[in-house]
Amino acid sequence: MSTRSEITEDTYAELRAIAARYPQPRSGLLPMLHLVQSVDGRITPEGIEACADVLGVSAAEVSGVATFYTMYKRKPVGDYHVGVCTNTLCAVMGGDEIFARLKDHLDVGNDETTADGKVTLEHLECNAACDYAPVMMVNWEFVDNQTPESAVRLVDDLRSGVEVRSTRGPRICTFKEAARVLAGFPDGRVDEGPSAGPASLVGLGLAAERGWSAPSPDTAPQGDPDQRDGRHAVAEEPRQEAAATADAGTKEAEAAVVEKESPTTETAAEKGDAK
Ligand code: FES
Repeated sequence: MSTRSEITEDTYAELRAIAARYPQPRSGLLPMLHLVQSVDGRITPEGIEACADVLGVSAAEVSGVATFYTMYKRKPVGDYHVGVCTNTLCAVMGGDEIFARLKDHLDVGNDETTADGKVTLEHLECNAACDYAPVMMVNWEFVDNQTPESAVRLVDDLRSGVEVRSTRGPRICTFKEAARVLAGFPDGRVDEGPSAGPASLVGLGLAAERGWSAPSPDTAPQGDPDQRDGRHAVAEEPRQEAAATADAGTKEAEAAVVEKESPTTETAAEKGDAK
């Protein structure tokens, strides 16, 4: 794995093209950082400088973003970033066991790369794919319903150059290629598989079967002031009720204070009467 930066004038041109996609160029920083990873395999100081130059911000500002998100790597990553979800559900379904087995099999620790530069192993947080637990991700493609044995086969295939596919369809590309897609330069794999599998769509199927639907956010047509006012009136009602309740609460609280104070006053008066 080279540790030299490969940022060139072409990279600068692509960084500028990403920034130009946004009304505020600095909004492009996240995909720009992915582009840096697609060239250098990690976030290099040269990549940070290039982003800062293009956006007219300081290198410290770019570093602040690059060091905040865990998808940006400051150490060289192998050809295949292999993540194992060890968040609660995946962990109890076997994610912890898979991670332990891969650590032994690859002879690396968390966030370390194999000696051949092929695989970087990392604990992942929940991938929002719990319905396929335990889940792994290779270069951000899902590999669902894994076992320690299937995980070992997976990394062995990746290291030996066998074509591997996500359990959802797409071919698994290299880390740099995936970073380029994340930068907004799609490759030819876009139609190779669905983004959601059947288990994730069970709720939708049930809703269709039972005729359930969510209320539309556009119940009032745009530009219809009568309907819009009606919608506001509905929204205002609970607020007015809440305000009335709060007001009543304040009055009750004031009455309680008066009540609490009044025995003292009465006692004094009574004392006065007694005199
Ligand atoms: S806990 Fe692993 S995908 Fe949610």
